Amino acid sequence: MAQTETAPLASTQPVGKVADPCVMVIFGASGDLTRRKLIPALYNLARAKLLSHEFAVVGIARRPMSTDDYRKKVTEDMKQFATGDVDPDLWEWFVRRMYYMSGNFDDPQTYPNLKDLLTKIDQEHSTRGNYFYYLATAPDAFGTIVENLAEHGLMQQDNNHWRRVIIEKPFGHDLESARALNQQLLKVADEKQIYRIDHYLGKETVQNILALRFANGIFEPIWNRRYIDHVQISVAETVGVEGRGGYYDTAGALRDMVPNHIMQLITLTAMEPPVSFRADAVRDEQSKILHAIQPLSAEDVLTRTVRGQYGEGVIAGQRVPAYRAEPGVPPDSRTETFVAMKLQIDNWRWADVPVYLRTGKRMPVRNTHIVIQFRRAPFVLFRDTPVENLMPNQLVLHIQPEEGISLRFAAKAPGALMRLGTVDMNFEYADYFGMQPSTGYERLLHDCMIGDQTLFQRADMVEAGWCVVSPLLDVWKALPPRNFPNYASGTWGPRDADELLERDGRRWRNFEK
Ligand code: BG6
Repeated sequence: MAQTETAPLASTQPVGKVADPCVMVIFGASGDLTRRKLIPALYNLARAKLLSHEFAVVGIARRPMSTDDYRKKVTEDMKQFATGDVDPDLWEWFVRRMYYMSGNFDDPQTYPNLKDLLTKIDQEHSTRGNYFYYLATAPDAFGTIVENLAEHGLMQQDNNHWRRVIIEKPFGHDLESARALNQQLLKVADEKQIYRIDHYLGKETVQNILALRFANGIFEPIWNRRYIDHVQISVAETVGVEGRGGYYDTAGALRDMVPNHIMQLITLTAMEPPVSFRADAVRDEQSKILHAIQPLSAEDVLTRTVRGQYGEGVIAGQRVPAYRAEPGVPPDSRTETFVAMKLQIDNWRWADVPVYLRTGKRMPVRNTHIVIQFRRAPFVLFRDTPVENLMPNQLVLHIQPEEGISLRFAAKAPGALMRLGTVDMNFEYADYFGMQPSTGYERLLHDCMIGDQTLFQRADMVEAGWCVVSPLLDVWKALPPRNFPNYASGTWGPRDADELLERDGRRWRNFEK
């Protein structure tokens, strides 16, 4: 089937570089990630004219299925998971580039079969031997797949073609296993071929942290210990474990969210200006922050960290079960579903500025935000104003579901007297840029196709993230919690998390809407 036609809807110009001709191979093609995110994201890239006309997808999974049946299945899935209307002509163009191959990842025969199929696709679609492999599989398959790909020449690059691999989290289970996995991968592939994905970096509002800080002259001069009192990062979710009890119970909130997603938020907020936006320039600065996070001693773990597990409760009027009653979770589980901690970054910019972070399941609202709280103004001029009416300035970066930035400051309340109130100045993305329906994976997939690693984790960054949480893993293992469940679903976590800030004379900012 020779494909000579171009993608339809070519009336407007693409915004960005059109990707190289290539084949995307998805290991774990029958899974949730593929149908919910990857395929809709590829379609969105095609719609944005960022995919090459010489493009194809190979899905691999265990289950036997023909390519025709796979095409029918993804067409059905798109009815549910597309982020907007699907143009029938463009979809037809797209789906004709999809292939399916059944295979076991640990069966050596899978790889020669894949090689044959890729050679055939190269001939039919002129994809030129450029391949990227997306490992949407269980993490214990990562090493085996990459080793097998290498053994069959499928990781080998030269001047005429490239080979890359995208790896989903979890990247290891602790520092030791992350190191072992890095070593295993780096034996058969170059760091430049490895794209460790963190879907938080696909979020527009996360990328906007860099734009806010480094495309504006007004923030950097005050972005330091002279003006900033502390930083709060909250990642609150209303969902429970969403049928993933088996995985989650072996991971817990700390592993699931902190060394990866929350570390991204910390590094982008705290890093020094990079010398350029080249991948390694940005990642070097992120890496320095990870290394500057003060390691927690065993005593710090006891005094500066909090863990929690949800009991039953009510969220948005709905009664929800306790964590221990979720499918796949043992009834006496001691796995945490909430974590909070106070970290310090030991460098000139941030010395003595605490960074408080918290994340939890079954919170009252879904809300991710970063609060930069500035030092208070001296109150001399407003002696008669009660201090509680003069809230400190806060710059809040709203990551999701609200997407925007707000600044809290004091203003005079109208009237004959000098009375002060606190007001918020708000910017919302949607007001300025409209809503761009996206899965959050478009940018990351496109970056891989054009060879830009800026938004992917380097080996040293992954390991440094694990170093930060290692002391907690060790101490918590040695001292299992005795009071779980210790927060009701629909609340902001255990009381200890509030005390963590109250002890320092501070308070979490909760956004209830
Ligand atoms: C995943 C975690 O990496 O991120 C989930 O495994 C979590 O437990 C999810 O719910 C949160 O992602 P988002 O994009 O909904 O904030």
